[in-house]
This record gives sequence, structure tokens and C-alpha cells, in this order.
Amino acid sequence: MTLTTTNFEQTAAREAEFQLATYKKMKLAAVRGRGAWVETSEGERFLDLYGGHAVAATGHCHPHVVEAIRAQAGELLFYSNLVYSEVRARAAEKLVSCAPAGITKAFFCNSGTEANENAMRMARMFTGRENIITFTGGFHGRTADAISATFLGKYREIGRPNVPGHLCAEFGSIASVAALADETVAAVMLEPIQSMAGVRQAQPEFYGALRELCDARGMLLIYDEVQTGVGRTGEWFFAGSKTGANVVPDIITLAKALGSGVPVGACLTTETVAAHIKENDLGTTFGGGMLAMAAVNATLEAIERDGMLENARTLEGYLRESLKVVPEVARVRGAGLLLGIEFTDEIAAKIHQGLLNEHIITGTSSDARVLRLLPPLCLKREEVDLFVEALKRVLS
Ligand SMILES: Cc1ncc(COP(=O)(O)O)c(C=O)c1O
Repeated sequence: MTLTTTNFEQTAAREAEFQLATYKKMKLAAVRGRGAWVETSEGERFLDLYGGHAVAATGHCHPHVVEAIRAQAGELLFYSNLVYSEVRARAAEKLVSCAPAGITKAFFCNSGTEANENAMRMARMFTGRENIITFTGGFHGRTADAISATFLGKYREIGRPNVPGHLCAEFGSIASVAALADETVAAVMLEPIQSMAGVRQAQPEFYGALRELCDARGMLLIYDEVQTGVGRTGEWFFAGSKTGANVVPDIITLAKALGSGVPVGACLTTETVAAHIKENDLGTTFGGGMLAMAAVNATLEAIERDGMLENARTLEGYLRESLKVVPEVARVRGAGLLLGIEFTDEIAAKIHQGLLNEHIITGTSSDARVLRLLPPLCLKREEVDLFVEALKRVLS
């Protein structure tokens, strides 16, 4: 029997009846999306500055992405990595061509946590060492190894008993990394901008110092770019960007925006690391499937063709400028369209709800003062104006 949804209450009640209650949900049922807008079952439109948690970088239902997925679905939905595929070859080539010089190889998987698990495994295989240094405030996913690498609030506790092989350094402190970096350490892994922690960024010198320390002590450097990657910061990646002091890590992990909503993750790495990875060292059934690969190609093409990297940088500037007149805003953190609006008080949750009442979706973070914006990279100036006006109303 096919159940049809007629209104929000019915949908919400059925989700509650048949699903685990693992998410604190906003009171709306999304049925349709276009650009930066989401339409609900009640026909209401919401401006989505959360981007479905940084996934909808190309905007909701970008026509080029939708068309590519439709076309691929009619040809071949899936075949495993045991056969070659032109659409997979194109996705790997295109993705590597967007990456900074020196990053030459891709491995496809299905999610951010899985990309991080594989990145840590690669580092352990490459160095023959076991420990991974990660940072206070970093979030890396919810599977066993990734959650054990996560030193943010309650998350590590949820994953108990944590797996061994993890050390924690203070984000932004090179001395604290140096104190842990002995011959047991395979890699240092970080979110170069810590999103969930409230869009925290280290001083530019930190990234260069980390690169030097990793080289000096035989450790790999892994950037978890699950949020910062695929154009979010106004560059293809934080890795190799000016914002990131031009530092290139040994491994970059990606997910979220990579397939515009079709689940896909990836690890990108260098020729040197790749040379150590042999048949059967890594693998996953769905990684590199044709539908996901078509989505990757179309996502990267759409970002390029529509000039979304430049748009993200321009609108970052416009947002920062527009927010200068709001006295309750202490500062704006982040880069491109990964922004944390820091208020003078711990009011982010209230503002989030107030904006939702104004039909604007934003994100909170583990910092009660910080409201997060992760909108589609095709955001328009008029949409920023709508947000700033609504924010002023909510604050008053
Ligand atoms: C920086 C970062 N790494 C890893 C993950 C985990 O990704 P996924 O939920 O796709 O497993 C997330 C998810 O929010 C993330 O923000």
C-alpha cells in the first residue's frame, strides 16, 4: 500500500511513529526545493541558509545536476568497482583537476565519516604507525574510528568504548601538537575551519607550522574538508587556498556538497601516499557508483559554469558589510559561505527559532553565541537583504 502525505501533522506523526527519535527537528516538512528556497507540504517557502547542512552547494535541484542524474538513471544506476566506468573516470579526473597541485588520486566512498575512516587507515598503512592526532572542537563523524577522533562535546562519549589510536591536541596550538607528535603518530587530522564548534579558524601561521611539523616528524597531514570543500569557502578547497596559507595536506576528505544531495564521499591524496595503497586495502560496495558519479560531475560543472566560487566570495563580503550595522553581532567568523555570526550573548538558539518564524532556515552550533550560515553557493544579494532585515526584526 502506498501512503500519501496530506499535511504536516500527519507526516510528523508518522515519522515519529516509525523512526527512531534521533534528531531535533524543525517544524516543517520539505517537499520541493529550487535554488536557495525550500517549499513545504503546506505550500510555504523558506529561505534555506543552512543548505540542508552544507549539502545543497549548487542550490536545491540545480537543473544541470537534476538532468545529469535523470540521464544516468536511465542508462545504468550502479555497477561496482570491479568494472571500469567512463562516468567514474570523468568524476575522478575532474575532482583531481580542481584540487591543489600535488593531489592526484581519488578514492570514492559514501559519506564524510567513511572518508575520514579511510583517510586515517591510509595514513596508518603509509607510516606503519597507529596514533592519529585530532583537535579539541573538531567533528569527524559518527562511525567508530571517526567518533573516537572527535573531541567535541558529547560526541566522543556517544561512541564509547572508543577505539584506541587517538590523541587530542588544542586547536590552534602548534606547541600542543608538537608535545604529542612522537614516532607513534601516523597523522594529524583537522577540520581546517571547525564548523560544528562554531566556525572556528586558527591563525594562518598555524596551518604552515602544522605542515612543517608533519614533514619533520614523518606524519601525514589530513584535512577533513567535508564541510569546507567543494567551493564552500569561495575556493574549491581550503587546501592550497590563500585563506589556508597555501598549505597542501597529504589527504583531503570530502562528502556533503560533492553530490549535491546524492550520497557520496571521497579521499583525495598524493602520488606518494597512493603508491602505498594496494588492491583490497580500501573498498566499499557503493563507492564510485554511476549515479553518484554523475552527480559529482554535474556538481563540479555547475559550480564552475555558474561562477559560484566567485559568488561565494562576493556574497561573503556583502554579508559581512550588511551585518556591520547590527549592534548585537560581535563578529563574523569563517570564509566564503561557511560563516558563523557571533552574537554578543548566548542567543543563537533563540535567533535560529526567530528566523524560522520568519521563514528563514539557519544553523546553530556547539557555541551558544554562534549562528551558522551554510547557504547554497548560488545565493543572491536580495536573499542576503531578506536575511539581514529579518535578523534585525528578530533582534528587536
Ligand atoms: C567536518 C565533518 N566531518 C565529517 C562529517 C561526517 O559526515 P557524514 O555525516 O557524511 O558521515 C561531518 C558531518 O557533519 C562534518 O561536518
